[in-house]
Amino acid sequence: MESLKIRNTLEEDFVEIAELAENCSPMETERNSIYHIFTKFFKSTSLVAELPSGGIGGFILGFISQENPEEAYIHLLCVDPKMRGKHVGRKLVEKFIDEVTLRECKKICLITKPINWNSISFYKKLGFLEDKSQETINILGVNAVKNYNGMGQHMVVFYKSIE
Ligand SMILES: CC(C)(COP(=O)(O)OP(=O)(O)OC[C@H]1O[C@@H](n2cnc3c(N)ncnc32)[C@H](O)[C@@H]1OP(=O)(O)O)[C@@H](O)C(=O)NCCC(=O)NCCS
Repeated sequence: MESLKIRNTLEEDFVEIAELAENCSPMETERNSIYHIFTKFFKSTSLVAELPSGGIGGFILGFISQENPEEAYIHLLCVDPKMRGKHVGRKLVEKFIDEVTLRECKKICLITKPINWNSISFYKKLGFLEDKSQETINILGVNAVKNYNGMGQHMVVFYKSIE
């Protein structure tokens, strides 16, 4: 595989991120303005995997909580379907962990849909645990927090302690 450079986003990356996000089903696509907010205002916790030939092979967009600065949140992670299974996702998450550890975070959280088996297997492999502190509902063997995103929208809430 071409060697990748994991780097913080540049503001203009949002255009390519938006294009790549179209291929990241079942992750939902956002309005371009959301990608732009991350690449402009959350550069420290938003990263891309840059290919030597140019172009982006994956991205992770996250932030550190203002309410609890010891907690970071991964909003979106996507690897180009052609690049999957080559540890691009792992490298993005590991670099994200490095970035937020430097900023003294102790915990990372994220949510995913109970039907997103790729994502669930991936995060479990990376040591993330299902949050069962809230009322959960078992969907196809995974514990989703009931009505997390509104009535009937149960979501798997993952966390990882990084202390
Ligand atoms: C989930 C996703 C980011 C994984 O990226 P990836 O680059 O293919 O994953 P990696 O190659 O880094 O895999 C890391 C580890 O997870 C495991 N893994 C990844 N996908 C897996 C799957 N579908 N089933 C089982 N294990 C899986 C790998 O085997 C690997 O294990 P190892 O490090 O012990 O060898 C990618 O499939 C994707 O972009 N999906 C669509 C978007 C999405 O759902 N994003 C997450 C929700 S925000």
